[in-house]
Amino acid sequence: MNKDLERIVLSEKEIAQMVKSAAAWLDEKFKNADTPPLAISVLKGSVFFYCDVVRAMQTSVQLDFMTVSSYGNAAESSGVPKIVMDLAASVYDRDVILVEDIVDSGHTLSRMKDLILGRGAKSFTVVTLFDKPSRRKLPIQADYSCCEIGDEFIVGYGLDYAQQYRSLPYVGILKREIYEKK
Ligand code: IMP
Ligand code: MG
Repeated sequence: MNKDLERIVLSEKEIAQMVKSAAAWLDEKFKNADTPPLAISVLKGSVFFYCDVVRAMQTSVQLDFMTVSSYGNAAESSGVPKIVMDLAASVYDRDVILVEDIVDSGHTLSRMKDLILGRGAKSFTVVTLFDKPSRRKLPIQADYSCCEIGDEFIVGYGLDYAQQYRSLPYVGILKREIYEKK
C-alpha cells in the first residue's frame, strides 16, 4: 500500500466486481436501445473506471470525453466546475451515459446534467464509482452508484489529490496530514 494512505477502501478485486455490476446494470437499461448510447468519461478522475465499464458492457456504445476541473489543488471543491475540454460529439437526440468517479457536493454533476440536457440529449444516465451523500450541497444523485463513503478524502484508480495518486490500481483513504499540512 502507498505510504500516504491510511487504509484501502477498495482493492483491485473489489473494483473488478463493482465494474461488472455497473456494466450489467447499464446493459439491462440499454438492451432495447435502437442506437448506441454515447458514453462520456468525466476526465480525469473517471478514466480507469470508464475504460473498465465500457469494456465490460455487452451493449455497443460510442465514446467521448470531457475534462472538468473544480478543485485546483485543494481537497475542497471550489463550487464552480470549469469545462477544460469539451466533447467532440453532439449529444443531440442521443442517450447519454455519464461515467463519474465520485459525486461529492454535486456541483460537477449538476453542471454536466444542465449542459447535456440543454444540448438536447434524449436521456441522461449517470453511473458513479463513489458517492459521498453526506457532503451534498445540491439535490442531485447518480442513477447507479457502486460504493457509498463518508466524509473522507480518497485517492487512487483515477482519483487524485493535487494530481497525485491517480495511477494506483486500488482506492485508499489519504492520510489527513497530507492535505492538512499546508
Ligand atoms: P463535486 O462537484 O463536489 O460533486 O465533486 C466532484 C469531483 O470532485 C469529482 O469528480 C472528483 O474529481 C472530486 N472529488 C470529490 N471527492 C473526492 C475525493 O475524495 N478524492 C478525490 N477527488 C474527489
Ligand atoms: Mg478530480
